[in-house]
Amino acid sequence: LDLGVLVSGRGSNLQAILDAVAEGRLDARVRVVISNQADVEALSRAERAGVPTRVVSHRAFADRAGFDAALVSALREAGASWVVLAGFMRLLTPTFLEAFPDRVVNIHPALSPSFPGVDAQQQALDHGVKLTGCTVHLVDAGTDTGPILAQAVVPVLDGDDRAQLGARLLEMEHALLVQALGWIAEGRLELVPSAAPGGRTRA
Ligand code: GRF
Repeated sequence: LDLGVLVSGRGSNLQAILDAVAEGRLDARVRVVISNQADVEALSRAERAGVPTRVVSHRAFADRAGFDAALVSALREAGASWVVLAGFMRLLTPTFLEAFPDRVVNIHPALSPSFPGVDAQQQALDHGVKLTGCTVHLVDAGTDTGPILAQAVVPVLDGDDRAQLGARLLEMEHALLVQALGWIAEGRLELVPSAAPGGRTRA
């Protein structure tokens, strides 16, 4: 599995992928890590692992289609056939998604379709849900929507603050993302038609 990973910040999900590859738990190669922000921890993590990095700033482009076309070129040049959004904080346009149809994976820190968008952890706390979790899904043109590959449940404990819940979720995210990518690497992922937009998956 030839991966391109898009990041914007800390890169702990990227690190989970790099560690799983290095330890032989995931049959994949990270061909390139692309960030829309310079000087982020995710880029240092990639460099430490010997993975090529690129910075493609969205600010350098007049429109989203131009930015997305630049991302597609960088991914293709690097030989990526699948794309992982690991804390990538930009919405992708159809320009991008048509270049990698059903080949873009996102990790979201909530049980989709609950709590799409920014700070799903705080949304869960604000709603007072007792269970939340994380979702790995194929990306469509919506925000944190698209066919679900895997979900895992994480409890919200009395007295949790944003940091405590976030840390509990993050640990689960790392495991779930590696597991779902493993299914893809093994060729087990199947997209089947359903009433949901884009279909549903089984592995
Ligand atoms: C994670 O919570 C992920 O689910 C969300 O953004 C955060 C990225 O964290 N999409 P990291 O950069 O992988 O550490």
